[in-house]
Amino acid sequence: MDRCVVIVGFMGCGKTTVAKTLARQLGCNVIDLDSFITEREGRSAAEIIAQDGEASFRSVETRALGDALENGDPRVISLGGGAWTVEANRALVAQHDCLSVWLDAPFELCWERITANPNTIRPLAPNLETAQKLHESRRASYRLAQLHIDATKELAELVDDITRGLA
Ligand code: S3P
Repeated sequence: MDRCVVIVGFMGCGKTTVAKTLARQLGCNVIDLDSFITEREGRSAAEIIAQDGEASFRSVETRALGDALENGDPRVISLGGGAWTVEANRALVAQHDCLSVWLDAPFELCWERITANPNTIRPLAPNLETAQKLHESRRASYRLAQLHIDATKELAELVDDITRGLA
């Protein structure tokens, strides 16, 4: 693979799982941007948002994405759910000629996964109504990704679809 793949989509759409499985299949590195941020900053995305506010987190996120793209071999990167809605981040991904992939999952599936694990704190999805509005309002941005994939498919099919998109 000579091209980086960037996986985008709403919280709970399966970005991290798909990215890990895809990277294993392609034999390349994988970066989960939220984990990368946690390692660099010593605080999770949720903690940064709670302590410093969302705007501050977005600056941290853009810097981290730039550094992740700058340094290293072709790889798979899964973004946090809001990263792709930021124009500067989309520009960085385009500059590096990455394949952007939107995992499009219906809100009900995302919400089921968001609420299934109470240990994963998602400050921007504190209740169903807020999360549903955010899911709807972000679709226009997610649509700007180059590859649009129905995230309700089986994991193996999702990975095959992306692999075909790389060909
Ligand atoms: C966010 C999603 C989270 C994390 C942060 C903000 C968002 O990542 O980056 O809480 O704005 O949707 P996941 O999509 O991995 O939950």
